[in-house]
Amino acid sequence: MNFARDSQPAPGSPRFIDNYGQTAGIPAPSGLEALAAGLGATQASIAPKYFYNALGSRLFEAITVLDEYYPTRTEARIFDKASGDIAQAIAASGITRPCLIDLGAGNCAKSARLIPWLQPQQYVPVDISVDFLRESAGQVQTAFPALDIVGIGMDFSQSLVLPSEVQTHDRVFFYPGSSLGNFSPEEALVFLKQISDAHQGRARGLLLGIDLVKDKAVLEAAYDDALGVTAAFNKNVLLHINDLIGADFDVRQWRHVALFNEADSRIEMYLQAECDLTVRWPGGERRFLAGERIHTENSCKYTLESMSELLENAGFSGIRYWTDPDQWFAVFWAAV
Ligand code: AVI
Repeated sequence: MNFARDSQPAPGSPRFIDNYGQTAGIPAPSGLEALAAGLGATQASIAPKYFYNALGSRLFEAITVLDEYYPTRTEARIFDKASGDIAQAIAASGITRPCLIDLGAGNCAKSARLIPWLQPQQYVPVDISVDFLRESAGQVQTAFPALDIVGIGMDFSQSLVLPSEVQTHDRVFFYPGSSLGNFSPEEALVFLKQISDAHQGRARGLLLGIDLVKDKAVLEAAYDDALGVTAAFNKNVLLHINDLIGADFDVRQWRHVALFNEADSRIEMYLQAECDLTVRWPGGERRFLAGERIHTENSCKYTLESMSELLENAGFSGIRYWTDPDQWFAVFWAAV
């Protein structure tokens, strides 16, 4: 795999390795083909990773402070209460100065709160929103000037092979915010196995934040807030696709839909055509009838038992978890 290194990081800035190329605005050709294939499929779809251009990352930050979107603040409260216990559990697994690998780091705020507890030897924030990550990694460096930081712009849903700058021993993966829920349970199992794999992630352990099954009304409100921030986040994916493949989506022609599918225990998000319309891009087009939907995201919700089982099936052991009093969210520690 090709990793493009910053030739000379500015003084006081972390090292940064960009393997995604979003700074240049050029996704890999296979990514473009997959995008066009998704738009052309009988059930049209866009992968949720395309939410996170610069505006999408900021809209997601706004979602996390909405009243209706409980996961971020509930997870933060769990960490506020349990970070000491979590640090002890990690130490009890024989890890003293971890290499903290933050998957989907975004604004790095969650790690910034955890760093004083875990005292990592190295901090490795990873995200596909490259410019956003550069800025946030810089802020972490300012807060912890002596910490060795290696920022990585990469699509970790494709591969977990990390560049040689990332320390290979005592790797602790941090995957908070219930982002694992954006994979199907089958994909999640494959992904978790990659984390523990001796040739890919080489993890000693995983610290994982997971949203739990709860009342349908609470779940649906969290993904369809009164202010319409989640609707804007969802529709922004169309603007991103316009930029990426030169499509001509008009966001005014689409409506945000979020439904809890109880049978599959997941929120499903769609964009629904408000009228008959045709979307065109170089080399393709797709006609949508009024009411037809593009699937943009699943957000799977687990129980404490179903997630423990998934982690065990992926080869993790010594599983522990911490939850809030309502059991709306859980933080898991799973050793390899
Ligand atoms: C990033 N991910 C865990 C969020 C979620 O809750 O599934 C993304 C999101 N989509 C709509 N609101 C938030």
